[in-house]
Amino acid sequence: MSPKLRVGVMISGRGSNMASILAATEAPDCPFEVVLVASNNPDAAGLAFADSKGIAIWAHDHRGMKRAEFDRLIDAALRGANVEMVALAGYMRLLSSEFVDGWKGRILNIHPSLLPKYKGLDTHARAIEAGDSEAGCSVHVVTPELDDGPVVAQARVPILPGDTPETLAERVLKEEHRLYPAALAKCAADVIRSRKSA
Ligand code: GAR
Repeated sequence: MSPKLRVGVMISGRGSNMASILAATEAPDCPFEVVLVASNNPDAAGLAFADSKGIAIWAHDHRGMKRAEFDRLIDAALRGANVEMVALAGYMRLLSSEFVDGWKGRILNIHPSLLPKYKGLDTHARAIEAGDSEAGCSVHVVTPELDDGPVVAQARVPILPGDTPETLAERVLKEEHRLYPAALAKCAADVIRSRKSA
């Protein structure tokens, strides 16, 4: 069996998507393993969860640091753990172009909208406000532009009468937890296949 792809997950807070990625690694045929959970927020709840599961964690407060300077630190942590692919899971900071270029094509992100609609923040409020009949989430490859890289997977949910941003977020989040591990597994399997044919 070929070795599993080594994934580093970057979080800023709750970490429920990271937890769904960790849960997926329990399947024996999962093509990736999580070797590091890293955060710009030492108080992120997800860090304690990852630690309780025996996953290596790294955290450093980004405040007071230049973006590129912080990104060099987190980059060194990922490379120190021999990470091969990065999964942003509620990582709420823009990345420097140096960081993105250094991991070209190897960073995935989950965004709570049907991209290219509603890049940035407050996606659910904006979808409701616009009178959309559906919302959803997208997994995409990260490029230097915000929420802009090629979409690899999407899931859709209806927007129901009376929905608030909170009720919609809850419906979308359930789909995020299903979509992200599956999309990551597909991308990891592709990288492993390309290794074999190289
Ligand atoms: C998720 O809904 C994720 O899609 C979103 O933040 C939440 C993090 O939740 N990400 C973004 O908005 C990125 N632009 P989690 O910490 O429980 O995974």
